[in-house]
Amino acid sequence: MAALKYAGLDDTDSEDELPPGWEERTTKDGWVYYANHDEMKTQWEHPKTGKKRRCAGDLPYGWEQETDDKGQVFYVDHINKRTTYFDPRQAFTVEDVQQKPKRYDGNTSALEILQGRDLSDRVVVITGANSGIGFETAKSFALHGAHVILACRNKARASEAVSLILEEWHKAKVEAMNLDLASLTSVREFAEAFKAKNLPLHILVCNAAVCTQPWRLTEDGLESTFQICHLGHFYLVQCLQDVLRRSAPARVVVVSSESHRFTDLVDSCGKVDLALLSPPKKDYWSMLAYNRSKLCNILFSNELHRRLSPYGVTSNAVHPGNMMYTSIHRSWWLMTLLFNIARPFTKSMICQSQPCGAKPCLGCQIVTFFATKMLFFSVVQEYIITSSTS
Ligand SMILES: NC(=O)c1ccc[n+]([C@@H]2O[C@H](COP(=O)([O-])OP(=O)(O)OC[C@H]3O[C@@H](n4cnc5c(N)ncnc54)[C@H](OP(=O)(O)O)[C@@H]3O)[C@@H](O)[C@H]2O)c1
Repeated sequence: MAALKYAGLDDTDSEDELPPGWEERTTKDGWVYYANHDEMKTQWEHPKTGKKRRCAGDLPYGWEQETDDKGQVFYVDHINKRTTYFDPRQAFTVEDVQQKPKRYDGNTSALEILQGRDLSDRVVVITGANSGIGFETAKSFALHGAHVILACRNKARASEAVSLILEEWHKAKVEAMNLDLASLTSVREFAEAFKAKNLPLHILVCNAAVCTQPWRLTEDGLESTFQICHLGHFYLVQCLQDVLRRSAPARVVVVSSESHRFTDLVDSCGKVDLALLSPPKKDYWSMLAYNRSKLCNILFSNELHRRLSPYGVTSNAVHPGNMMYTSIHRSWWLMTLLFNIARPFTKSMICQSQPCGAKPCLGCQIVTFFATKMLFFSVVQEYIITSSTS
C-alpha cells in the first residue's frame, strides 16, 4: 500500500486526477504539460492543482526516446520489445520543487549514484577497466550514456569487458584502447592515440593498480608497483592535461586506498626519501610499496587540484572501500585468503558481474568455508566461557 501511495496510485479520487477532456503529456526533456482537446490548448500547470510537474530522472533501464516521421516523441522498451507514445516516467512525476541532495553511504552502488543522470555528452577514460572497480565504474558510466574508453593492458580481457557492457545495453558507447602503465612509451602512445580521435575528455579515472606483486623492474628501470600505481598515471595526466583543460569542466579521479596511512615517504631524519619510491630488491616489501604508491596518489591528486582547478579541472582522490573482492589480491595466496574471508562482510557483492577471473577458486572456497566456521565456533566458545565465569 505504501508503494502505491508513493507512486500516487492508491487514491483514484486524488486531486491530481485530470478533468474530462484533458490529457497529460511530456516534452522531450521530461517536463509535463497538459493538453485540452475541447479548447485545443496546452499549458504547463495542472488544470486542478495549478502545480507544475516534471518526470523524475532518466528513462527506466532499457528504454529509449525516439521521434516518428511527424515529429512526435515515442518510447521504445528494448527489453520487452514494444513501443508506446506514453512516457514511462509519467508514472513517477514529481512536483517542480528544489530536490534535497541524496545521501550516500557505504552500501551505495555506482549505478545508484548515477541514477537520473544523463551523461550522453561526456567522454570518460578509465584505466584498468577490464575488471573489479574499474569495470563497474565503466559499466555504470556507459549505461548512463557516456562514451567510455577502457584503457587496459590486455586486449582480450578488455574486449571481454566491452562485450559484457554491450550485452547489458547494445547502444552503449564503449571501446577498449591499449595502455600498459608499466611502460612510459605505452602511456605516451595511448595519449597520442586518444588525441588522434579528437574527442574531449571530461572524466579521467586513474584506477589501475597491482598489489603484493613480487619485485620487478619495468622497461623504464623503475620498481613496477610504483610505476603502475602512481608514476604511469602521473605521466598519463601530464600527457592529457591539455585535452582536460580544453574540455573543462573536467575532472580527474585518482583511486587511492586507506592503506596509504600505513607508510610514509620520509627517512629516519624526517626528510623525503625519494629512493623509497623505487627501492632495490633487497629493500622491497610489496605491501609497503603499494601503500607508498597510494600515498603518492593522494599527494599528486591534491597538488593537481591546486594547479588545475583555476582552469576548471578538478581532482579528487578516493578510497573505494576496504577489501572488496576484485582481482587485486591475486599475486599473493595470503592476500587471496584474507580477501576470501572478508568477502561476506564487505561491499564485494556489488562487484559480482565483473569479468576476468575474480571468482574464488575451489581451494580458496574450501579454506574460506572452514576459516569462517572456525571463527564462528571460537566466538561461540568465547561467549560460553565468559557467561559461565561471570
Ligand atoms: N579491492 C579493494 O578492496 C581496494 C581497496 C582499496 C583500494 N583499491 C583500489 O581500487 C583500484 C581498482 O582495484 P580493484 O580492486 O578493482 O583491482 P583489480 O580487479 O585487480 O583491477 C585492477 C586493474 O588494473 C589493471 N592493471 C594492472 N596492471 C596494469 C598495467 N600495467 N597497465 C594497465 N592496467 C593495469 C588490471 O588489468 P589486468 O586484468 O590486465 O591485470 C585490472 O584491470 C586500485 O587502484 C586499487 O588500489 C581497491
